[in-house]
Amino acid sequence: MAETETQPQQQNGLQENRVFLPPPAFAAQANVSGMDAYKALCEEAERDYEGFWARLARENLDWHKPFTSVLDESNAPFYKWFQDGQLNASYNCLDRHINNGNGDKTALIFEADDGAVTRVTYRELHERVCKFANGLKSRGIKKGDRVVIYMSMSVEGVAAMQACARIGATHSVVFGGFSAKSLQERINDAGAVAVITADEQMRGGKPLPLKAIVDEALGLGGCDSVRDVIVYRRTGGNIAFYEGRDIWLHDLVDNQPGQCEPEWVDAEHPLFILYTSGSTGTPKGVQHATGGFLLWAAQTMKWTFDIKPQDLFWCTADIGWVTGHTYIAYGPLAVGATQIVFEGVPTYPNAGRFWQTIDKHKVSIFYTAPTAIRSLIKAANADENVHPKNYDLSSLRLLGSVGEPINPEAWMWYYRNIGREKCPIVDTFWQTETGGHMITPLPGATPLVPGSCTLPLPGIMAAIVDEAGQDVPNGNGGILVVKRPWPSMLRTIWGNPERFKTAYFPDELGGRYYLAGDGAIRNKDTGYFTITGRIDDVLNVSGHRMGTMEIESALVAHEMVAEAAVVGKPDDTTGEAICAFVVLKRARPTGEEAKKLAAELRTWVGKEIGPIAKPKEIRFGDNLPKTRSGKIMRRLLRVLAKGEQITQDISTLENPAILEQLRETS
Ligand code: WTA
Repeated sequence: MAETETQPQQQNGLQENRVFLPPPAFAAQANVSGMDAYKALCEEAERDYEGFWARLARENLDWHKPFTSVLDESNAPFYKWFQDGQLNASYNCLDRHINNGNGDKTALIFEADDGAVTRVTYRELHERVCKFANGLKSRGIKKGDRVVIYMSMSVEGVAAMQACARIGATHSVVFGGFSAKSLQERINDAGAVAVITADEQMRGGKPLPLKAIVDEALGLGGCDSVRDVIVYRRTGGNIAFYEGRDIWLHDLVDNQPGQCEPEWVDAEHPLFILYTSGSTGTPKGVQHATGGFLLWAAQTMKWTFDIKPQDLFWCTADIGWVTGHTYIAYGPLAVGATQIVFEGVPTYPNAGRFWQTIDKHKVSIFYTAPTAIRSLIKAANADENVHPKNYDLSSLRLLGSVGEPINPEAWMWYYRNIGREKCPIVDTFWQTETGGHMITPLPGATPLVPGSCTLPLPGIMAAIVDEAGQDVPNGNGGILVVKRPWPSMLRTIWGNPERFKTAYFPDELGGRYYLAGDGAIRNKDTGYFTITGRIDDVLNVSGHRMGTMEIESALVAHEMVAEAAVVGKPDDTTGEAICAFVVLKRARPTGEEAKKLAAELRTWVGKEIGPIAKPKEIRFGDNLPKTRSGKIMRRLLRVLAKGEQITQDISTLENPAILEQLRETS
């Protein structure tokens, strides 16, 4: 790749002028080769939107019953895709590869926390999934039931998701870092009939509880729907066992037949629910449909990741997040690829683990988050021994980034030190709600600009509008929307269709545009998109979405706390950090006492939501800055959190004196 121009740039990439063209050799072999090929696909979608999607749906998926209807907009925004078609996701991810003679191909390479490696072929995975599915059926679990999966990264975790898909049960994976209370809320909201978990998980050489947290969650009440708790034995650690409710996974599956006829479901059948944070209220159960989701999971593997039969794909996400759904549990399997499933953490046994693992297995496509890159840059600078230069990374041909904006410095480091200036980087913008990539470079076509996710994928009608839903010209910032429905979009919020409508299809934008919740700007000349960050009260900490309201509710649930306001603050490593302003029911603490209480509140939030939600900083005040009508002025809190001077108008502020007090960090 050639660097065509070097100019000073700003941190967020808006002033970035460096352009990196796809290496000719990459472009020559790419699934989408050159910008003309990209443009032709975009034009096809513009010309005949339904015909375009119908073609992709037929090419990417095996249909048990072919669809005749492509898009049904009659009940917008509750769109339906391929609705009279029938298929099974697990059949598409497993059986068809065996039928095509690829049964002996490795599907999963499991790299355990301690470095132990297990390989599973498509035939073996199929057998495991079938036995698992038969086991679930033997407990009376059936099509339409919801099953919560609370597991760490494992072959069994992927098999659990596939087994649910095989019998038409809707899974809801809850990230293993969420607390008992968060787990209980999700089990309850989903009305799950079963929970699949493990005794413990291994992270960084240490066992951490899973089953004990499930016990605690179920003990909190409101989970009467749960009949079975299925436990995978990962560590053999000591756990409580409740006869009649709990069953070991091996006892459930060992004597089951290795074949299980897939349950053919309608394309719109809910494949999964995944909870994610919104700006208000409790987490939303984002519901995805089988056909549309799987189509886009497969197609983006081919377009964005240029996947080929000989590739070794590694997505470092956890199956508890959407990235682990689309680009571990479904996408790579749907296209018959070989992938790594990684149990560990990037810093164990040292911060060279990612690079060592790429070297060890000869990974060709690597997909990770900017937070991980930034923390590994720091680690490499601090310790020569874990610098990527010590590892043979020549197997890599493509790099990806996901979850948050990647700043140009981190992009350049990734490009030079990991990609050795020969691998394109795909900066993929998407969301839990979108099911798959939305705005991303195509590695054999798109000239890359560090810090920009470049252009929408063919068929994705992304645009930037103002608050009245009018297009804004390139060069002006605005609200990111998608103007047309696409197959992998969320279908609704589980149990709350009203909230789905108001959160994603607000009347102010005409009720037809999908509102992403991010701000964006397009480059005047190239039309490239740069995401400027959330426009709502959602924070993005290490690529994890957190609602400020959720954290505030957790804080005020503590008996000492009278009031709390949470804002984000830029952070070198995690992108954004959580900063909480807290008013106690007693006098404002200072000095050592403030430190002690802040530590106690951090632990509390960890218990209420999960460790990822712990505020990095807590400041105590006698009050919060409020308008005369009592509204907390968060924009001022954001400025205080950053440690900047307030230049905004504060004439509507009731209690200006409070600003000085909240400026102090405890
Ligand atoms: C942010 C993760 C900039 C964005 C797949 C979005 C990004 C939220 C990028 C969704 C990117 C994700 N550049 N920002 N490449 N990718 N985001 O639902 O704010 O966990 O709305 O899905 O992450 O987070 P979610």
